[in-house]
Amino acid sequence: MNKITDIDILNKRILIRVDFNVPLMNGNVTDNFRIKSALPTIRYCLENNTSIVIMSHLGRPNGALDEEYSLYPVADELEKLLGLPIIFSDDCVSEDSISTSEGLKSGEVHLLENLRFHQGETDNDAGFSQQLARHGDIYVNDAFGTAHRAHASNVGILDFIPVSSSGFLLDGERNYLSDAIENPVKPFVVVLGGSKISGKIELIENMMEYASDIIIGGAMAFTFLKAQGFNTGGSLIDSDRLAIASELLNKAKSKNISIHLPKDVLASIEISETSSWRISDVDGLKNDEIGLDIGPESCIEFEQILADANTILWNGPLGVYEISNYAVGTQFIAKSILKFTEAGTTSIIGGGDTSAAISALNFNNGFTHISTGGGASLELLSGNYLPAFKALDDHG
Ligand code: 3PG
Repeated sequence: MNKITDIDILNKRILIRVDFNVPLMNGNVTDNFRIKSALPTIRYCLENNTSIVIMSHLGRPNGALDEEYSLYPVADELEKLLGLPIIFSDDCVSEDSISTSEGLKSGEVHLLENLRFHQGETDNDAGFSQQLARHGDIYVNDAFGTAHRAHASNVGILDFIPVSSSGFLLDGERNYLSDAIENPVKPFVVVLGGSKISGKIELIENMMEYASDIIIGGAMAFTFLKAQGFNTGGSLIDSDRLAIASELLNKAKSKNISIHLPKDVLASIEISETSSWRISDVDGLKNDEIGLDIGPESCIEFEQILADANTILWNGPLGVYEISNYAVGTQFIAKSILKFTEAGTTSIIGGGDTSAAISALNFNNGFTHISTGGGASLELLSGNYLPAFKALDDHG
C-alpha cells in the first residue's frame, strides 16, 4: 500500500474517500470526531497545492435519495473546522458534479453528496466506480470506518484510477489496531466490555495470541460467570454462547493467559436512572437482580493489573454507562488508563461503543489512539484482512 507521503501529489486533483458517517440532530453534527480525524490528510493535500474532492457515505439510505441522510450538514461542519468554503454537489456522479471537480483550482475543496444514494456504491458496481474515478487524478483512502466493506468507493474504484494511497488516518488505525497489537510492548493487557460476547469471540481468540491478561466487564462478563457456574440473577446472558465462553476460558488457561472477571457488581432490579442499587459479590445476586456495572473491589483489582501494562487495548464499556449510577466503572477504568498513558503506557481504544462511551463521559483526550471505526475496528482486532486494505495493497 502506498502512503500519501510516498506519492507525488503536488498540484494534482485528489479524490479522498473519508468516513463522515457522523451522528446528526436537527441538521447539525453532534459528534465531529470522525471529521476532525480526517483533517490531517486534507490539510496535507492543501499544503501541497492540490484541489480536493471528498466523498463519503452517511447512514444506510439503501441506494435512494433520502434528505435525512444528506451530507449537506457535514459540509457546514467541515467548513468551520477547515476555515475554508466548501463546494457541495448534490449528486456524487452527475455530469455537473464531475465538471465541478474538473474545474477546481488548487486550494478548493469539493464535497460530494452521500455515495449511498446510488445502489452502485454498496454493490461495488464497476460502472459506478468508473464514474467516481472521474473526480480525481489520484485516489486517497482515509475511511477506516468503512474499511471492512467492499464497496465501489473503497475497492472497485482502484481499478479505474492510476495512482492511489492511504491517508494518515488509515495508516494510524492500521498501525495501532494491527501492528502495535501484534507486536506489543509487553505486558499487554486487554480490557473488554459491552453487552454480548457473540460479536467478540474472534476478537478474544485473536487477543489470546498476544495478550498476557484479559479483563472482562460489561454484561458480557455474566456469560463467562454463568459458564463457570455462578448464579448471575437476572443479568443479561448470551445463553447460546455459554459453551463457547467455557471453551474460551479453558483455552486461556492452557495458554497461560489470565482472564479477570469482576468479583463484585452494582445490582438493581431494573435498568433505570431512579431505581435503587446495591454492591453485590458476583455470587450473591438475587434472582431478580441485574448486574449493571463493575463494583469497587473489581475497579481496584483491574487498576492494579493495568498498572503493570506497557500496552493496553480497551474495547467495550464496563457497565450501562448511559445511566450515571452505572457509569462509574467505565469512568474509573478510563481515568486509570489515562493516568498510565501519561506515565508512558500505550493505550489503544477500539471504536464504536467504546469511543461513544468515553466521549459521553468527556474523556476524549489523552489516550494514545482512539479508533474511528466500529465494525472495522472489531474486524481488524479479530485479525481479519479488511477489503479496503487489500484493495490498496493490491494496487500500491
Ligand atoms: C460505521 O459507522 O461503522 C461505518 O461508517 C460503516 O457503516 P455501515 O455499517 O453502515 O457500513
